[in-house]
Amino acid sequence: MKLKKLVMLSSILLGLTPLCLGQNIKGSPHDFTRNTASNSSGELCIVCHAPHGTDATAVPLWNHGTTTQIFSTYIGYKFDALPSITAPDGASKLCLSCHDGVSAMNQFGGHANGTSAPGPTYLGVHASNLGIDLTNDHPVSFVYNTALATLDGALKDPSTATTSLGGTIATDMLDINSKVQCPSCHEVHDQTIYRFGKISNAGSALCLTCHNK
Ligand code: HEC
Ligand code: HEC
Ligand code: HEC
Ligand code: HEC
Repeated sequence: MKLKKLVMLSSILLGLTPLCLGQNIKGSPHDFTRNTASNSSGELCIVCHAPHGTDATAVPLWNHGTTTQIFSTYIGYKFDALPSITAPDGASKLCLSCHDGVSAMNQFGGHANGTSAPGPTYLGVHASNLGIDLTNDHPVSFVYNTALATLDGALKDPSTATTSLGGTIATDMLDINSKVQCPSCHEVHDQTIYRFGKISNAGSALCLTCHNK
């Protein structure tokens, strides 16, 4: 009994430790201090955030150029949220300001605009480039609420269903406007879980957090 408890406790601790340590951006693909040609400041956050003088139209304290591309959004064939999906907004727009394959990585500071000529540091034709055609990517920038869950029939109710992070889908994974965005599945600052995962997708646990399949 005692041993069982100990094993349980240590696996809980092991599971939680990376989350408690939180910030794990150093040495990750999002650590731009290694790219001294475009970031000679030696600072980790500056490529994306600054304490002052940031782009007032992009939160939080966004210091990178934002994409001005026109994206094709997800259509599907029985996608119930279709009427509410919009062009990428919120945090998804921030991610796509590098991951659209057009915007330059090194456009930051001074309200730089991401559309200027892609430098050597842009993603180009790379797996990390989602491109501007998002019809083949999991939908983002649409409202996921109780009404959608009821309509769909195979989605959990975001206001009551819990996640392995301790809260509900709404509090842990949706943005302030109840929208699914890239950070619903990714934690941009932490590479502990494969591909900046927010929740491990082992056994499709990430997918099953929201989908009742
Ligand atoms: C590659 C770009 C990038 C880098 C580098 C980055 N961030 Fe972020 N950060 C984001 C994005 C995108 C969001 C909004 C999405 C979200 O909340 O996950 C965000 C959100 C935040 C937030 C608000 C939400 C939260 O998690 O509390 C804080 C605070 C923050 N970042 C701090 C930092 C600090 C401090 C650093 C440097 C150690 C840093 N960030 C480095 C992209 C970045
Ligand atoms: C400042 C530019 C920038 C921003 C903003 C940014 N990324 Fe990235 N991201 C990159 C680069 C560069 C790479 C590395 C690509 C490579 O290795 O070729 C990367 C890699 C990744 C990877 C792959 C990680 C791996 O293990 O290979 C994921 C997933 C990712 N980003 C998700 C996001 C998400 C989600 C956001 C927004 C919340 C975001 N990124 C914001 C530049 C950015
Ligand atoms: C529904 C969950 C979900 C959403 C939403 C999501 N991703 Fe991902 N993403 C994943 C998972 C899971 C992987 C890992 C796939 C693998 O490698 O097996 C991944 C992988 C990636 C990669 C690594 C390259 C690749 O193709 O494997 C990048 C870059 C990325 N995502 C960026 C984004 C961006 C930018 C957004 C928002 C426009 C986004 N993701 C939205 C779940 C999601
Ligand atoms: C944060 C919650 C969330 C997570 C995590 C998530 N999804 Fe979704 N997903 C949704 C919502 C909400 C919809 C919209 C369903 C609709 O309106 O028909 C959706 C749509 C989809 C669709 C399109 C359905 C259609 O009718 O076209 C597929 C396929 C899908 N998700 C698969 C996945 C997979 C695979 C994963 C794991 C990698 C995943 N989802 C993770 C919330 C999530």
